[in-house]
Amino acid sequence: MMEKAEIIKRKEALIAKYGPWTGHNIRLADDLYTISPQLSGDEIKLRRIRQIVADLSPKPVDQLRVLDLACLEGLYACEFARLGATAVGIEGREANIAKAHFAQEVLGLSNLSFHQDDVRNLSRAKYGEFDVVLCLGILYHLDAPDVFLFLEKIAEVCRGIVIIDTHIALKKRKTVRYQEKDYQGKSFREHSFWSSLAERQKALWASLDNPRSFWPTLPALLSFLTGIGFTSTYECLSPPEPNKPRDRITLVAVGTEPAPKERTLAL
Ligand SMILES: C[S@@+](CC[C@H](N)C(=O)[O-])C[C@H]1O[C@@H](n2cnc3c(N)ncnc32)[C@H](O)[C@@H]1O
Repeated sequence: MMEKAEIIKRKEALIAKYGPWTGHNIRLADDLYTISPQLSGDEIKLRRIRQIVADLSPKPVDQLRVLDLACLEGLYACEFARLGATAVGIEGREANIAKAHFAQEVLGLSNLSFHQDDVRNLSRAKYGEFDVVLCLGILYHLDAPDVFLFLEKIAEVCRGIVIIDTHIALKKRKTVRYQEKDYQGKSFREHSFWSSLAERQKALWASLDNPRSFWPTLPALLSFLTGIGFTSTYECLSPPEPNKPRDRITLVAVGTEPAPKERTLAL
């Protein structure tokens, strides 16, 4: 176990190098947090995600392999590792992954690994299969066709459920074609077209490089999820996340066996 004075020293060194933590408030020791002892918005989101996994995941938490995509400073991956799951976090930015590694070390979580990688490189060959895939706050940072390719890769690695916390387009402003089908949605500005790659790297919550992202409408997203093998998708309304904007939702997609197509009693 790391001494409290050592944790504080290492935390300050990370802040000096990369700036303060921007989102994930992680308890490092009794009254010592990455951000502050005050309740944060992520605490509420984390409770929702934990509840979904407890209610819908196929196995007890300590038997799960959990993948946290675009894990930022590692809160969700650390939490599931703390609960006994084998967790893997993937994050594209050095500043974020360095903080995630620090939290892992302080908490002594050996059943957790963090990888600095582009989530678009996800594959079963590289990372294996997972019972729970956390796709939180990342889908809406990808442009077409990457957003579709990324969802296909999630389907490839997911043998249980995927939780998708994402913005959606409430109005049809743009149509994109992927594999001979049209998907409605809207374009969202991530970075100025004229910004350098270095400037884009500094925006710690944004896309890694693409200046625009594509947000599908809910019907377009649901139709795509069905097309890649998720047999049913649910929206989580409770536990509540009171400050979530109207265009941001939490979906849970499950991919099991398609229900048999024979006649039902109702036909
Ligand atoms: C809005 S934050 C969401 C973080 C976290 N998943 C959560 O829900 O709190 C978006 C994160 O995605 C990361 N990111 C964006 N594009 C990425 C990519 N192509 N590959 C890996 N990480 C990416 C950013 O660096 C940032 O940490």
